[in-house]
Amino acid sequence: MNGRPRLGSARRTSLPLGERTGADGAPAVKLGSARRPAPPPRVEIPHDADRGLPLLRLSSEARLMDDLVLGDHVKERLQYIVDENAKLDDLRALGLKPKRTILFCGPPGTGKTLSARIMSSMIGYRFAYILFDSIVSSLLGETATNMRKVFSFVEEGRYVALFDEFDIVGKSRDDPTEHGEIKRVVNHFMQMLDTYDGDSIIIAATNHPHLLDGAVWRRFDEILHFDLPGPGQRREILEKYLGYARHDPDCDLERMARNTGKYSPADLAQICKDAIRFSVIRGRDTVLNSDMEWAFNEQKRRKRAIRKGA
Ligand SMILES: Nc1ncnc2c1ncn2[C@@H]1O[C@H](COP(=O)(O)OP(=O)(O)OP(=O)(O)O)[C@@H](O)[C@H]1O
Ligand SMILES: [Mg+2]
Repeated sequence: MNGRPRLGSARRTSLPLGERTGADGAPAVKLGSARRPAPPPRVEIPHDADRGLPLLRLSSEARLMDDLVLGDHVKERLQYIVDENAKLDDLRALGLKPKRTILFCGPPGTGKTLSARIMSSMIGYRFAYILFDSIVSSLLGETATNMRKVFSFVEEGRYVALFDEFDIVGKSRDDPTEHGEIKRVVNHFMQMLDTYDGDSIIIAATNHPHLLDGAVWRRFDEILHFDLPGPGQRREILEKYLGYARHDPDCDLERMARNTGKYSPADLAQICKDAIRFSVIRGRDTVLNSDMEWAFNEQKRRKRAIRKGA
């Protein structure tokens, strides 16, 4: 495997991820290392001039691709982007650039944010979560200025920068001004993307790809679609999340996987966590099938309530 960081095998990888550092000097996360990584150096986070709010949040991620259950195609593409960026300096020496601008599309709870965090962990760059609520300002011109500040910040260092739900801008979807505002913000973003020439990886995530016009799609080096899981993947997700606790062999995960069509990985994770919590409350150290059934009904109720409120 010629020493490249392998998805799902960061703990075992022969490439010492933790020994790479970002251009901003931030130490990469050393996965599986017993030593605590040195605290990252302080950097000046950009702020909104009007309200003084930070425009992004930085973190160091230590997550594994094994945490993620995805279709093979998406995992392969993520791996490819990780590989290219791990060879950034070699590519640059040849006048080439790795893929650095990526669009994640897909329904809520399918792993877009988690994938961005995992990529940051695999590549060894710090994770920059862009805070759209802070970027969007009521002051004329300030939104564009904020966007510029964020881009120059990520351009100067090495980050995996996530512009999460970049086409949703606060207000109600019924608001007729909302469409114009979304367009304005997306336009600022695209203008910045056009001239972007940093080493950081820029990821934009959306669960409303239909709101984006054709020009937007062409701007990205890579577009990945995150789909709802099929029955096999649902079973895998249930096993993964239930695996954190002892569970009774009677837990019928096969049946649960069959009955949870249209459920997202986040919904399934929630069912497992609820079932584990419920068994603890009942003073047991083993999750029973009845706990899973209870948690499934809870999740059904929650989803109904969300649909009513939406
Ligand atoms: N593909 C997946 N495999 C394993 N767990 C997942 C997956 N997708 C989501 N999860 C679980 O659900 C949680 C929420 O997922 P995440 O925030 O990544 O979804 P998202 O696609 O970004 O959703 P949204 O569109 O609402 O932002 C994750 O932290 C993880 O626990
Ligand atoms: Mg998300």
